[in-house]
Amino acid sequence: MKRILVTGGAGFIGANFVHHMIAHSDAEITVLDKMSYAANRASLEGLDPKRFTLVQGDICDYVLVNELVPQHDAVIHFAAETHNDNSLHDPRIFLKSNVMGTFELLEAVRHHEVRLHHISTDEVYGDLELDDPQRFTETTPYQPSSPYSASKASSDLLVKAWVRSFGIEATLSNCSNNYGPFQHVEKFIPRQITSILSGLPPKLYGNGANVRDWIHASDHSSAVQRILEAGERGRTYLIGADGERSNREVLGLILELMGRDADDFEWVADRAGHDLRYAIDATVLREELGWRPQYTDLERGLGATIDWYRQHRSWWEPAKARTEERYRRQLSGEEARMAS
Ligand code: NAD
Ligand code: TYD
Repeated sequence: MKRILVTGGAGFIGANFVHHMIAHSDAEITVLDKMSYAANRASLEGLDPKRFTLVQGDICDYVLVNELVPQHDAVIHFAAETHNDNSLHDPRIFLKSNVMGTFELLEAVRHHEVRLHHISTDEVYGDLELDDPQRFTETTPYQPSSPYSASKASSDLLVKAWVRSFGIEATLSNCSNNYGPFQHVEKFIPRQITSILSGLPPKLYGNGANVRDWIHASDHSSAVQRILEAGERGRTYLIGADGERSNREVLGLILELMGRDADDFEWVADRAGHDLRYAIDATVLREELGWRPQYTDLERGLGATIDWYRQHRSWWEPAKARTEERYRRQLSGEEARMAS
């Protein structure tokens, strides 16, 4: 698999994947990214131009997609609108990019007979109780809660339908919450780190008891590479690294690693429909494909991530004030809605 088209490769996980593949394969990579607010060209700086090209464009653009797809041996589809809070305030673009964009790619890989790997999230399965001994598996029923997770669930179902009805050569993966370098400052972990670095208080939603199952983005990348090499057509693989922690615990670790007091943060109103807990059982990926995560110690991974944000202020600073302003607007819109 020499020529790979990576959609959304200028976003967080896509950029990590591009760096991973340049370092761990001989693939030539084209990134197709519309360069939304979530993208950052600087995440792809320094890559060998003989092996890497960036095309700015939309996956909903039929002509562009049908020009690019046949020039490649595989499409790895990361492009999406990804922030739950945004999806609660403006869901339209989530349906457009995540559902219609995936549809355009499916039609192109079908007509040009190109392999597809579709990247998705564990949020399609809804949430678990805090004390539920079960974790999500490949057979857990879909029950998405937010416009974001519903749009990702819709895109997964389209991929499965195209496999069954048209026999396309596709695999899927649903991964738990990622952290690591290049993550936008709107997301939980980088928001708190960059707030502390900017002299702002970290913000914890609700009562902080919600649990996420954290995985380092480089482990997500190695899992996707393994699925590309050995995954079976039509199969879904769950990716996770046994990293369950409550939001309160994660924030506690960040505060400790950054030398702050344990109570040096603010409680804020809870997210509407806030999923309680996600947890992945990655047994199939481990046993059938022999994949193993490298970052098994969250504290070590968080420490490295904090160092990265400390050393890359110019990467995140331009987005910080804009993002906090957006949060303020979303909060005041929410308060006005509750008052009416
Ligand atoms: P991100 O928001 O950081 O990046 C998404 C990228 O997609 C951006 O560069 C954006 O410009 C691009 N994009 C959006 N709409 C596009 C369109 N219509 N055409 C072309 N490009 C477009 O997201 P991320 O966190 O890197 O997530 C990447 C993928 O991984 C998504 O499919 C997401 O659902 C999935 N995922 C994310 C997580 C997580 O914890 N972040 C976990 C599991 C799965
Ligand atoms: P987020 O990074 O938005 O990912 P997701 O919604 O996909 O899980 O949020 C992770 C968790 O952190 C989620 O339970 C919401 C919570 N959260 C906060 O407590 N404070 C914040 O400022 C943000 C952005 C999220």
